[in-house]
Amino acid sequence: MVRIQLDRPDDTAGALQALGQLVRAGAMPDEVHWQVGPLPAQNDLFGAQAGHEAGMPLICSEPDPTGAHWPVNSSSPSDKAPSWPDGFEALADAALLHDAPERFTLLHRLAVRLHADRRAWQDTLDADRIALERMARQVRREIHKMHAFVRFKPVQDEEGEQHVAWFEPAHHIVHAAAPFFARRFASMRWAIFTPRGCVAWDRQSLRFAPGVTRAAAPALALDDGDALWLTYYRSIFNPARVKVAAMHREMPVRYWKNLPEAAAIPMLLSQAPQRAAPMVAESEHRMAPSAQAVLASRPARPRAQPNAATAQATLATCQTLAARCAQCAHAAHATQAVWGEGPVGARLMLVGEQPGEREDLEGRPFVGPAGQLLRAALDELHWPHDQLYLTNAVKHFKYEWRGKRRIHKTPAQREALACLEWLEAEIQTVRPQGIVALGATAARSLLGPDLPVAEHEGRWLHRADGLPVLVVRHPAAILRTDPAAQAALRQRWIEHLQRATAVLQTAAAQEVA
Ligand code: URA
Repeated sequence: MVRIQLDRPDDTAGALQALGQLVRAGAMPDEVHWQVGPLPAQNDLFGAQAGHEAGMPLICSEPDPTGAHWPVNSSSPSDKAPSWPDGFEALADAALLHDAPERFTLLHRLAVRLHADRRAWQDTLDADRIALERMARQVRREIHKMHAFVRFKPVQDEEGEQHVAWFEPAHHIVHAAAPFFARRFASMRWAIFTPRGCVAWDRQSLRFAPGVTRAAAPALALDDGDALWLTYYRSIFNPARVKVAAMHREMPVRYWKNLPEAAAIPMLLSQAPQRAAPMVAESEHRMAPSAQAVLASRPARPRAQPNAATAQATLATCQTLAARCAQCAHAAHATQAVWGEGPVGARLMLVGEQPGEREDLEGRPFVGPAGQLLRAALDELHWPHDQLYLTNAVKHFKYEWRGKRRIHKTPAQREALACLEWLEAEIQTVRPQGIVALGATAARSLLGPDLPVAEHEGRWLHRADGLPVLVVRHPAAILRTDPAAQAALRQRWIEHLQRATAVLQTAAAQEVA
């Protein structure tokens, strides 16, 4: 019997190295016993790990009862790793992080077949391969869940504020998931405690430590951040859109106990049918084929809604939360989050891409050159300011330095996606009758990432919730155009914008009546 000992359950490099040696030596999977080494003492948290040099796989072999010794940890010039088919190592890297102890044996069996004949990789119906692919999918999904469900809470330690979080992953994913947090929360000191390993970031490097029990992790009490987050979550929870099965799939119940918002979910779900009824009745008005028809068919809404004060408070809460949002790396480099501007109940919402340099410094949307072009157009269209809400799909300025200048950088789709919750909160609180999407980032945030924006320029589309969205060019695109073509382009842009005037006229007519 051969014993392979890995120091950590997620030591994929060590496992692959051992696997290569086993396969070359002709060891059969049923002759091998895989063992994951004992964890170092828990009070050594984030200190040097006992046992061996960090980063080096600790792999040992044991004499078999017959006295033969497998030199699995020796390396000689002839000890070259087998050359695996493309895709094998990626599969192994993910599947080896699975919690199932049989992962090693399944991989070893597949490796033996591949070593004998690489064409075995073409056999996608191989039972071991299928099982490993399933494990790899579950691991990747778990990493994704960890990225989505870790909730940091500020605590004070001797060096000042640190953010800590507790998470209970189902697989050995802490190492694999950690670089994401280092990128996203680069400017914070943070630590994530889990029973499968802990990781800390000191703004420069990641340090790993063995897992701890919940009781050994620092007390993570409900704090002000949680309370704010709960208020926000309650306010954006849309009972008419509740799909319990999908919700459980996306946010499996086992994560709930560590999510502050989960405390509100049972109550919100139980109230959902009652709260949804008026929304469903209202949405029947929204199914008409064009925005004008939709808007004309909607009953007048009193200007001062009975819950306007609550909505204003919700907006203010969201603004506070967005100001501390650190979901994108560039949030840390911006001067501030730039929130939308305009009254709750505004008929029309205009959504741009992201704040520019001026907006970043002043903390108001559309005050720089593109904003001035937009504001001049709104005046030309005689759109009443008190019926407009101006905001952006992304709340922080993303830029790069060129010399001493900060130059705008288009936000990546994942960054716009991370910011979508803030835009949705604005939409659900302001409750406009129509939206103008200024440019591709706004259009894709509002209507879906695959929207062929150019094809829809100047047209009204409907979101899944029925809200009409007019897609037009971004004012910065006009500023960037060659001066000879600028006047014509601007004229065409104004004509497109004008298609939203009906939203405001309908409002005015209803108010007069
Ligand atoms: N561009 C935008 O998209 N938004 C602003 O607020 C300013 C410029």
